[in-house]
Amino acid sequence: MNIQNKFIKYTWLSEYETGVTFIDNFHKNFMNLTNTLIDVVYKQECKQKIMMVFHRLVNYTEDYLVKEEMYLQKIGYKNFKEHKAEHAEFIKEIISFQEAYENKEDICLNLLIYVDKYFKNHILTGDKKALT
Ligand SMILES: [Fe+2]
Repeated sequence: MNIQNKFIKYTWLSEYETGVTFIDNFHKNFMNLTNTLIDVVYKQECKQKIMMVFHRLVNYTEDYLVKEEMYLQKIGYKNFKEHKAEHAEFIKEIISFQEAYENKEDICLNLLIYVDKYFKNHILTGDKKALT
């Protein structure tokens, strides 16, 4: 696959904001992580940097997702169950990427494709819809 120019690093825009400060801060962190992963792939630094990327992804799932779920429950979000299922799917995918990496598979590009899609479809679209 020719990936030249396929991924463009994100800049935070006001339209991305949900207005809930702790959520926006985590979303900015996730955007920065996506940008880091774009760099890692284009600079071919997967071997050196993949553990740092996994560390940050696990941090996002462990430190943040439950907090977002608690908040969505508190405000009575009507599609809460489906939203929570998307989080569970994300966690499952990250674990399977980690397993593939441990099996010496070259996963960086596919991880980027997945993380980039999650950022656009879940964070910028699903979370935004749930919170505004
Ligand atoms: Fe979410």
